[in-house]
Amino acid sequence: METIENRLKDIRHDLDHDLSNIHSQEEFDQLKIKFLGRQGLINTLFKTLPIKDNPEIPKLINILKSEIEVKIDQKSLSLSQELRTTSIDVTLPGINPPQGSVHLITQAIEEIENIFARLGFIRRRYPEVDTDWYYAEGLNIPKDHPARDDQETFYLDKNIVLTAHTSNGQLHEMELMKHPPIKMTNIGKTYRRQTDATHNPMFHQFEGLLIDKDISITHLIGVTEYFVKSYFGLDREVRLRPHHFQFTEPSFEIDISCDICQGKGKINDKRCKICKSGWLELGGAGMVHPNVLRNGGIDPEKYSGFAFGWGVERVLMMKSGLKLPDLRQLFSDDLRFLKQF
Ligand code: DAH
Repeated sequence: METIENRLKDIRHDLDHDLSNIHSQEEFDQLKIKFLGRQGLINTLFKTLPIKDNPEIPKLINILKSEIEVKIDQKSLSLSQELRTTSIDVTLPGINPPQGSVHLITQAIEEIENIFARLGFIRRRYPEVDTDWYYAEGLNIPKDHPARDDQETFYLDKNIVLTAHTSNGQLHEMELMKHPPIKMTNIGKTYRRQTDATHNPMFHQFEGLLIDKDISITHLIGVTEYFVKSYFGLDREVRLRPHHFQFTEPSFEIDISCDICQGKGKINDKRCKICKSGWLELGGAGMVHPNVLRNGGIDPEKYSGFAFGWGVERVLMMKSGLKLPDLRQLFSDDLRFLKQF
Protein backbone atom coordinates (compact mmCIF):
# COMPACT_ATOMS: atom_id res chain seq x y z
CA MET A 1 0.00 0.00 0.00
CA GLU A 2 2.83 2.28 0.84
CA THR A 3 4.38 1.92 -2.57
CA ILE A 4 1.03 2.68 -4.14
CA GLU A 5 0.67 5.87 -2.15
CA ASN A 6 4.16 6.80 -3.17
CA ARG A 7 3.27 6.31 -6.81
CA LEU A 8 0.28 8.58 -6.42
CA LYS A 9 2.40 11.15 -4.66
CA ASP A 10 4.91 11.06 -7.49
CA ILE A 11 2.18 11.69 -9.99
CA ARG A 12 0.91 14.68 -7.97
CA HIS A 13 4.36 16.03 -7.85
CA ASP A 14 4.87 15.42 -11.51
CA LEU A 15 1.64 17.25 -12.31
CA ASP A 16 2.54 20.33 -10.27
CA HIS A 17 5.91 20.45 -11.92
CA ASP A 18 4.47 20.11 -15.42
CA LEU A 19 1.69 22.63 -14.81
CA SER A 20 4.13 25.30 -13.74
CA ASN A 21 6.11 24.85 -16.94
CA ILE A 22 3.29 25.22 -19.43
CA HIS A 23 3.18 28.32 -21.62
CA SER A 24 1.43 27.25 -24.79
CA GLN A 25 -1.75 25.54 -25.85
CA GLU A 26 0.21 22.64 -27.36
CA GLU A 27 2.04 21.99 -24.10
CA PHE A 28 -1.24 22.11 -22.25
CA ASP A 29 -2.90 19.64 -24.63
CA GLN A 30 -0.01 17.23 -24.22
CA LEU A 31 -0.17 17.48 -20.47
CA LYS A 32 -3.83 16.53 -20.54
CA ILE A 33 -3.03 13.49 -22.63
CA LYS A 34 -0.13 12.58 -20.38
CA PHE A 35 -2.30 12.46 -17.26
CA LEU A 36 -5.84 11.81 -18.42
CA GLY A 37 -5.46 10.30 -21.91
CA ARG A 38 -6.34 6.74 -22.74
CA GLN A 39 -2.75 5.64 -22.29
CA GLY A 40 -2.21 8.33 -19.62
CA LEU A 41 -0.90 7.95 -16.10
CA ILE A 42 -4.30 7.62 -14.45
CA ASN A 43 -5.45 4.84 -16.76
CA THR A 44 -2.13 3.10 -16.37
CA LEU A 45 -2.71 3.07 -12.63
CA PHE A 46 -6.07 1.42 -13.11
CA LYS A 47 -4.49 -1.14 -15.41
CA THR A 48 -1.40 -1.92 -13.40
CA LEU A 49 -2.46 -1.70 -9.76
CA PRO A 50 -4.27 -4.60 -8.08
CA ILE A 51 -7.60 -2.77 -7.88
CA LYS A 52 -9.64 -5.93 -7.61
CA ASP A 53 -7.80 -7.06 -4.52
CA ASN A 54 -8.18 -3.83 -2.65
CA PRO A 55 -11.23 -1.58 -3.12
CA GLU A 56 -9.33 1.29 -1.48
CA ILE A 57 -7.05 1.53 -4.49
CA PRO A 58 -9.60 2.61 -7.12
CA LYS A 59 -10.97 5.12 -4.61
CA LEU A 60 -7.54 6.66 -4.18
CA ILE A 61 -6.96 6.74 -7.90
CA ASN A 62 -10.32 8.45 -8.46
CA ILE A 63 -9.56 11.08 -5.85
CA LEU A 64 -6.29 11.78 -7.60
CA LYS A 65 -8.08 11.89 -10.94
CA SER A 66 -10.51 14.56 -9.70
CA GLU A 67 -7.65 16.58 -8.28
CA ILE A 68 -5.89 16.45 -11.61
CA GLU A 69 -9.07 17.50 -13.45
CA VAL A 70 -9.59 20.48 -11.16
CA LYS A 71 -6.00 21.63 -11.53
CA ILE A 72 -6.11 21.19 -15.28
CA ASP A 73 -9.31 23.25 -15.49
CA GLN A 74 -7.75 26.02 -13.42
CA LYS A 75 -4.70 25.98 -15.64
CA SER A 76 -6.85 26.15 -18.72
CA LEU A 77 -8.39 29.38 -17.45
CA SER A 78 -5.16 31.02 -16.40
CA LEU A 79 -3.46 29.91 -19.60
CA SER A 80 -6.09 31.43 -21.85
CA GLN A 81 -5.75 34.70 -19.97
CA GLU A 82 -2.00 34.55 -20.21
CA LEU A 83 -2.17 33.82 -23.93
CA ARG A 84 -4.64 36.62 -24.51
CA THR A 85 -2.43 39.23 -22.88
CA THR A 86 0.86 38.05 -24.25
CA SER A 87 -0.07 37.13 -27.79
CA ILE A 88 -1.21 40.46 -29.23
CA ASP A 89 0.43 40.88 -32.58
CA VAL A 90 0.70 44.63 -32.95
CA THR A 91 1.61 44.34 -36.60
CA LEU A 92 -1.81 42.90 -37.49
CA PRO A 93 -4.22 45.35 -39.14
CA GLY A 94 -6.85 46.76 -36.77
CA ILE A 95 -10.43 45.57 -36.72
CA ASN A 96 -12.57 47.97 -38.71
CA PRO A 97 -15.91 48.79 -37.12
CA PRO A 98 -18.77 48.20 -39.57
CA GLN A 99 -19.36 51.24 -41.74
CA GLY A 100 -22.78 52.77 -42.04
CA SER A 101 -24.14 54.47 -45.13
CA VAL A 102 -26.92 56.86 -45.97
CA HIS A 103 -30.28 55.12 -46.47
CA LEU A 104 -31.62 54.95 -50.00
CA ILE A 105 -34.58 57.19 -49.16
CA THR A 106 -32.37 59.76 -47.47
CA GLN A 107 -30.14 59.78 -50.54
CA ALA A 108 -33.17 60.48 -52.71
CA ILE A 109 -34.42 63.24 -50.38
CA GLU A 110 -31.03 64.95 -50.44
CA GLU A 111 -30.91 64.81 -54.21
CA ILE A 112 -34.43 66.22 -54.54
CA GLU A 113 -33.68 68.95 -52.01
CA ASN A 114 -30.55 69.96 -53.92
CA ILE A 115 -32.30 70.16 -57.29
CA PHE A 116 -34.97 72.52 -55.93
CA ALA A 117 -32.38 74.49 -53.98
CA ARG A 118 -30.73 75.34 -57.30
CA LEU A 119 -34.00 77.02 -58.28
CA GLY A 120 -34.10 78.93 -54.99
CA PHE A 121 -36.57 76.73 -53.11
CA ILE A 122 -35.94 76.66 -49.35
CA ARG A 123 -36.41 73.31 -47.66
CA ARG A 124 -38.80 73.44 -44.75
CA ARG A 125 -39.85 70.78 -42.30
CA TYR A 126 -43.47 71.25 -41.35
CA PRO A 127 -45.26 69.04 -38.83
CA GLU A 128 -46.14 65.46 -39.63
CA VAL A 129 -48.73 65.60 -36.86
CA ASP A 130 -50.98 68.56 -37.50
CA THR A 131 -54.39 70.02 -36.91
CA ASP A 132 -57.29 69.45 -39.24
CA TRP A 133 -57.09 73.08 -40.34
CA TYR A 134 -53.64 72.83 -41.93
CA TYR A 135 -54.19 69.30 -43.12
CA ALA A 136 -57.63 69.68 -44.68
CA GLU A 137 -60.05 72.51 -43.80
CA GLY A 138 -57.68 75.33 -44.69
CA LEU A 139 -56.79 73.54 -47.91
CA ASN A 140 -60.38 73.72 -49.08
CA ILE A 141 -60.96 70.01 -48.50
CA PRO A 142 -64.63 69.43 -47.61
CA LYS A 143 -65.71 67.46 -44.54
CA ASP A 144 -66.91 64.47 -46.58
CA HIS A 145 -63.73 64.14 -48.64
CA PRO A 146 -62.03 60.69 -48.42
CA ALA A 147 -58.82 62.33 -47.19
CA ARG A 148 -60.70 63.23 -44.02
CA ASP A 149 -62.17 59.78 -43.59
CA ASP A 150 -60.74 57.94 -40.65
CA GLN A 151 -60.86 54.77 -42.73
CA GLU A 152 -58.09 56.30 -44.81
CA THR A 153 -56.30 58.59 -42.42
CA PHE A 154 -54.83 58.18 -38.95
CA TYR A 155 -56.58 60.56 -36.59
CA LEU A 156 -54.96 60.89 -33.17
CA ASP A 157 -57.81 62.97 -31.96
CA LYS A 158 -60.85 64.54 -33.63
CA ASN A 159 -58.74 67.49 -34.64
CA ILE A 160 -55.22 66.04 -34.76
CA VAL A 161 -54.02 63.92 -37.62
CA LEU A 162 -50.94 62.08 -38.84
CA THR A 163 -50.70 63.97 -42.11
CA ALA A 164 -51.52 61.90 -45.20
CA HIS A 165 -49.83 64.47 -47.45
CA THR A 166 -47.21 67.19 -47.16
CA SER A 167 -49.62 69.84 -48.46
CA ASN A 168 -50.24 71.00 -44.87
CA GLY A 169 -46.91 72.83 -45.23
CA GLN A 170 -48.51 75.27 -47.68
CA LEU A 171 -50.51 77.25 -45.12
CA HIS A 172 -47.70 77.12 -42.56
CA GLU A 173 -45.37 78.65 -45.11
CA MET A 174 -47.79 81.42 -46.06
CA GLU A 175 -48.21 82.28 -42.38
CA LEU A 176 -44.48 82.27 -41.81
CA MET A 177 -43.51 84.36 -44.82
CA LYS A 178 -46.60 86.62 -44.86
CA HIS A 179 -45.54 88.22 -48.14
CA PRO A 180 -44.55 86.53 -51.39
CA PRO A 181 -42.26 85.63 -53.02
CA ILE A 182 -42.59 82.21 -51.45
CA LYS A 183 -40.56 79.29 -52.71
CA MET A 184 -40.37 76.26 -50.53
CA THR A 185 -40.26 72.50 -50.43
CA ASN A 186 -41.69 70.54 -47.55
CA ILE A 187 -40.23 67.05 -47.61
CA GLY A 188 -41.37 64.62 -44.97
CA LYS A 189 -43.16 61.51 -43.88
CA THR A 190 -46.80 60.93 -44.67
CA TYR A 191 -49.18 58.35 -43.27
CA ARG A 192 -52.12 56.45 -44.66
CA ARG A 193 -54.09 53.44 -43.56
CA GLN A 194 -52.71 51.05 -46.13
CA THR A 195 -50.36 48.14 -46.15
CA ASP A 196 -49.59 45.66 -48.89
CA ALA A 197 -46.70 44.88 -51.20
CA THR A 198 -47.00 48.22 -52.99
CA HIS A 199 -48.13 50.39 -50.06
CA ASN A 200 -46.66 51.15 -46.69
CA PRO A 201 -48.52 52.99 -43.91
CA MET A 202 -45.67 55.49 -43.86
CA PHE A 203 -44.04 56.90 -46.97
CA HIS A 204 -42.44 60.18 -48.01
CA GLN A 205 -43.66 63.08 -50.09
CA PHE A 206 -42.12 66.28 -51.33
CA GLU A 207 -44.31 69.30 -51.64
CA GLY A 208 -43.40 72.38 -53.59
CA LEU A 209 -44.98 75.81 -53.31
CA LEU A 210 -44.19 78.91 -55.31
CA ILE A 211 -46.21 82.12 -54.92
CA ASP A 212 -45.40 85.47 -56.48
CA LYS A 213 -46.85 88.04 -58.83
CA ASP A 214 -47.99 86.75 -62.23
CA ILE A 215 -47.20 83.09 -61.66
CA SER A 216 -48.81 80.89 -64.29
CA ILE A 217 -48.98 77.28 -65.42
CA THR A 218 -45.92 77.81 -67.61
CA HIS A 219 -43.86 78.36 -64.46
CA LEU A 220 -45.20 75.10 -63.09
CA ILE A 221 -44.23 73.34 -66.30
CA GLY A 222 -40.78 74.95 -66.29
CA VAL A 223 -40.02 73.93 -62.73
CA THR A 224 -41.36 70.43 -63.30
CA GLU A 225 -39.24 70.01 -66.42
CA TYR A 226 -36.18 71.25 -64.58
CA PHE A 227 -36.75 68.71 -61.84
CA VAL A 228 -37.55 65.85 -64.20
CA LYS A 229 -34.54 66.44 -66.43
CA SER A 230 -32.19 66.91 -63.48
CA TYR A 231 -33.41 63.92 -61.56
CA PHE A 232 -34.32 61.45 -64.30
CA GLY A 233 -32.26 62.60 -67.29
CA LEU A 234 -32.41 65.07 -70.18
CA ASP A 235 -34.28 62.70 -72.47
CA ARG A 236 -37.38 62.51 -70.27
CA GLU A 237 -40.50 64.45 -71.32
CA VAL A 238 -43.26 65.90 -69.15
CA ARG A 239 -46.99 66.09 -69.78
CA LEU A 240 -49.89 67.52 -67.78
CA ARG A 241 -53.25 65.75 -67.53
CA PRO A 242 -56.28 67.58 -66.16
CA HIS A 243 -57.29 66.28 -62.74
CA HIS A 244 -59.06 67.43 -59.61
CA PHE A 245 -57.62 68.46 -56.27
CA GLN A 246 -59.48 70.63 -53.78
CA PHE A 247 -56.59 72.96 -53.10
CA THR A 248 -55.58 73.76 -56.66
CA GLU A 249 -57.51 75.16 -59.61
CA PRO A 250 -56.82 74.11 -62.28
CA SER A 251 -55.31 70.83 -61.12
CA PHE A 252 -53.20 68.33 -62.98
CA GLU A 253 -51.65 65.00 -62.76
CA ILE A 254 -48.12 65.10 -64.13
CA ASP A 255 -46.67 62.25 -66.16
CA ILE A 256 -43.14 61.67 -67.37
CA SER A 257 -42.16 59.66 -70.40
CA CYS A 258 -41.18 56.06 -69.74
CA ASP A 259 -37.49 55.38 -70.18
CA ILE A 260 -37.96 51.71 -71.02
CA CYS A 261 -39.96 52.31 -74.22
CA GLN A 262 -38.83 55.94 -74.68
CA GLY A 263 -42.39 57.19 -74.37
CA LYS A 264 -43.70 55.05 -77.21
CA GLY A 265 -45.70 52.64 -75.09
CA LYS A 266 -44.42 49.80 -77.25
CA ILE A 267 -41.27 47.79 -77.67
CA ASN A 268 -41.08 45.85 -80.96
CA ASP A 269 -44.83 46.15 -81.46
CA LYS A 270 -45.47 44.77 -77.99
CA ARG A 271 -46.98 46.85 -75.24
CA CYS A 272 -44.37 48.20 -72.80
CA LYS A 273 -44.82 46.20 -69.60
CA ILE A 274 -43.62 49.03 -67.40
CA CYS A 275 -45.89 51.89 -68.45
CA LYS A 276 -48.36 50.39 -70.97
CA SER A 277 -48.92 53.86 -72.44
CA GLY A 278 -45.51 55.53 -72.78
CA TRP A 279 -46.08 57.60 -69.63
CA LEU A 280 -45.56 57.14 -65.91
CA GLU A 281 -47.44 59.14 -63.32
CA LEU A 282 -45.32 61.44 -61.20
CA GLY A 283 -48.01 63.01 -58.99
CA GLY A 284 -50.37 65.92 -58.49
CA ALA A 285 -49.92 69.63 -59.07
CA GLY A 286 -51.87 72.76 -59.87
CA MET A 287 -52.40 76.48 -59.37
CA VAL A 288 -53.04 77.29 -55.72
CA HIS A 289 -56.77 77.79 -55.16
CA PRO A 290 -57.75 81.39 -54.26
CA ASN A 291 -59.43 80.11 -51.07
CA VAL A 292 -56.19 78.54 -49.96
CA LEU A 293 -54.27 81.76 -50.64
CA ARG A 294 -56.87 83.67 -48.64
CA ASN A 295 -56.66 81.13 -45.78
CA GLY A 296 -52.93 81.73 -45.72
CA GLY A 297 -53.45 85.49 -45.57
CA ILE A 298 -52.39 86.19 -49.14
CA ASP A 299 -54.46 88.30 -51.52
CA PRO A 300 -55.37 86.18 -54.58
CA GLU A 301 -56.03 89.40 -56.55
CA LYS A 302 -52.40 90.34 -56.21
CA TYR A 303 -50.62 87.01 -56.16
CA SER A 304 -50.83 83.60 -57.71
CA GLY A 305 -48.86 80.42 -57.30
CA PHE A 306 -48.49 76.76 -58.02
CA ALA A 307 -48.02 73.72 -55.84
CA PHE A 308 -47.14 70.10 -56.34
CA GLY A 309 -46.87 67.01 -54.18
CA TRP A 310 -44.94 63.95 -55.31
CA GLY A 311 -43.86 60.70 -53.67
CA VAL A 312 -40.20 60.18 -52.79
CA GLU A 313 -40.36 56.36 -52.98
CA ARG A 314 -42.21 56.69 -56.25
CA VAL A 315 -39.60 58.84 -57.98
CA LEU A 316 -36.83 56.71 -56.54
CA MET A 317 -38.32 53.54 -58.03
CA MET A 318 -39.05 55.28 -61.33
CA LYS A 319 -35.51 56.52 -61.59
CA SER A 320 -33.56 53.48 -60.60
CA GLY A 321 -35.71 50.93 -62.37
CA LEU A 322 -35.49 49.28 -58.97
CA LYS A 323 -38.18 46.63 -58.85
CA LEU A 324 -38.94 45.61 -55.34
CA PRO A 325 -41.22 42.65 -54.94
CA ASP A 326 -42.31 44.36 -51.73
CA LEU A 327 -42.00 48.11 -51.20
CA ARG A 328 -41.88 47.52 -47.46
CA GLN A 329 -38.32 46.21 -47.87
CA LEU A 330 -37.28 49.85 -47.99
CA PHE A 331 -38.38 50.26 -44.40
CA SER A 332 -37.17 46.98 -42.97
CA ASP A 333 -33.79 47.19 -41.33
CA ASP A 334 -32.45 44.19 -43.21
CA LEU A 335 -28.82 45.05 -43.89
CA ARG A 336 -28.53 42.41 -46.63
CA PHE A 337 -31.02 44.50 -48.61
CA LEU A 338 -29.80 47.95 -47.64
CA LYS A 339 -26.11 47.24 -48.18
CA GLN A 340 -26.71 46.91 -51.91
CA PHE A 341 -27.12 50.66 -52.22
N1 DAH B 1 -51.62 66.23 -51.71
C1 DAH B 1 -51.83 65.44 -52.90
C2 DAH B 1 -51.79 63.96 -52.55
O1 DAH B 1 -51.21 63.61 -51.57
C3 DAH B 1 -50.81 65.73 -53.92
C4 DAH B 1 -50.88 67.12 -54.46
C5 DAH B 1 -51.70 67.41 -55.52
C6 DAH B 1 -50.14 68.13 -53.89
C7 DAH B 1 -51.78 68.69 -56.06
C8 DAH B 1 -50.20 69.44 -54.38
C9 DAH B 1 -51.04 69.67 -55.48
O2 DAH B 1 -49.50 70.45 -53.87
O3 DAH B 1 -51.07 70.93 -56.00
O4 DAH B 1 -52.29 63.16 -53.28
